[in-house]
Amino acid sequence: TQLDLDRLKKAAALEAVEFVRDGMIVGLGTGSTAKHMIVALGEKVRAGMRLRGVPTSHETAALAKEAGIALIDADSRWELDVAIDGADQVDPGFNLIKGGGGALLKEKIVAASAKQFIVLVDYTKQVPMLGGSFPLPIEIIPFGWGSTAREIESLTKSRVVLREKNGAPFRTEAGNLIVDVHIARIHHPKDLEIALNQIPGVVETGLFIGRTSILIVGSPHGVDIHHA
Ligand code: A5P
Repeated sequence: TQLDLDRLKKAAALEAVEFVRDGMIVGLGTGSTAKHMIVALGEKVRAGMRLRGVPTSHETAALAKEAGIALIDADSRWELDVAIDGADQVDPGFNLIKGGGGALLKEKIVAASAKQFIVLVDYTKQVPMLGGSFPLPIEIIPFGWGSTAREIESLTKSRVVLREKNGAPFRTEAGNLIVDVHIARIHHPKDLEIALNQIPGVVETGLFIGRTSILIVGSPHGVDIHHA
């Protein structure tokens, strides 16, 4: 059940915060798994650890403030010691699909700027190959979005669906749109990421390739820590 999975996410999050050291600047991911990590980091802060965070969404910023984690002005110049985030799918090469929550753009910037990127999942998100059960989110510019979507469709030969929320197009925090691409099997995720990023109007894709440093998996028989 959801409740059981949430327990596994929390178990993974508790392991992740053990990689955080005094004085670090931490990239804070978005989603239900990241939320557990933020709460656990808050406890570290209360116990005297000095940390500063860069949040990947307004939702995460609010959670971090609640947890007592000092935030750095995200528009200033920073470099992160570590970033910790959830994912929607992970393959055996530690490549990810992210963006189920729509925060993929900030999440990718934060992951890219961190010396270490720690990814937290429950075991149900492990797949032999990306795609299939989870459509690939792609953030695109609203201007001319229909033709951008058509280009994505012809590249991927897959169904492209404009994400909606409450009957209106979903807007990201950057004011963009998201299309979810229903790709059965992503055989070459790196090539696909590069090809998608060549399409005018594409801002970022939810493919996180070769970025994971440490993968932490919560499963019914315990928490596994994999170093990539
Ligand atoms: C947010 O845009 C996503 O990339 C999340 O990191 C991802 O969807 C994982 O979310 P959960 O931890 O809620 O499953």
